[in-house]
Amino acid sequence: MNHPITARAHTNIALTKYWGKKNEQLIIPNNSSISLTLDEFYTDTTVQFIDELSNDVIYLNDKLLSDNNKIIKFMDIVREKAGISTFAEIHSYNHVPTSAGLASSASGFAALAAAASKAAGLDLNEIELSRLARLGSGSATRSIYGGFAKWKKGNDDKTSYAVSVQDPVKMDIRMIAIVLNNSPKKISSREGMKISVETSPYYESWIKQTNDDLKTVENAIKDNNFTILGKTAELNSMRMHSLTLSSDPSYLYLNNDSLTVIHAVKNLRKNGIECYFTMDAGPNVKIICQSNNVSSIVKKISNLFNNNQIKVSKPGSKVKYL
Ligand code: PMV
Repeated sequence: MNHPITARAHTNIALTKYWGKKNEQLIIPNNSSISLTLDEFYTDTTVQFIDELSNDVIYLNDKLLSDNNKIIKFMDIVREKAGISTFAEIHSYNHVPTSAGLASSASGFAALAAAASKAAGLDLNEIELSRLARLGSGSATRSIYGGFAKWKKGNDDKTSYAVSVQDPVKMDIRMIAIVLNNSPKKISSREGMKISVETSPYYESWIKQTNDDLKTVENAIKDNNFTILGKTAELNSMRMHSLTLSSDPSYLYLNNDSLTVIHAVKNLRKNGIECYFTMDAGPNVKIICQSNNVSSIVKKISNLFNNNQIKVSKPGSKVKYL
């Protein structure tokens, strides 16, 4: 029996999104992306390889998982890299609403990559960890890092990984997540992006535009320009969602409550409170703002939703061992 290893990784929210793969199996994206890691949402995962086990045993929030193919496939990759054949017991605690567009797969696979690789005797550096996490879920590649991180698309397994852009974050920035739906999404990001790549007539324009948006956000981080960062993140999110609307069949991650938040943000802005919105593959909306406006925004949103649906986050830290 080997020692158990526990790692904590935080979720990240893309400011310019990854949407579409060049290689489905290796998860090589068609475009680079940039994100902010959040302190409020994270996953703690403990991995222990145990000689007596005849298969991997996986618990999520103390519940035995039966639908665990993605995790077993991932553990097979770790075993192959480490040259071992032992199975593992895995305990994962998600401090994130699972599969509702709050990137639980990002923190989940980043924490699993860190804990499993170390428990298997591998000593990976950040880039190697980022490449490994990518094989579980694309967005996980950025959750190895704290603060702002950029996933460089690369063109194969060796060259596709994330790097730190800025950590600690210099910008005064907060994200307010409005948790509108905790249940797993109907169309996974994996399925959704495949339909967009194959059928949206706007997909090529997306690639060109998102590359420009990424450069704009990178410069905004360098120049500490919150307005340009927020504005571009909001536009980029809408541009990604327009791919879902223009696919065949079309599909929609947003629901009525998402639209309510979007309108509220636009109204707040009209009234001089600077804030922007971004959404991922689910109905939840994240509001990007600065610390001085947090209380006015929370007040406005709490007129529309319960307080326990509103979570304020600061920039979060990189993956660490507990
Ligand atoms: O890595 P996945 O399969 O969870 O896909 C992430 C897709 C988005 O969250 C919508 C965008 C992104 O870059 O995180």
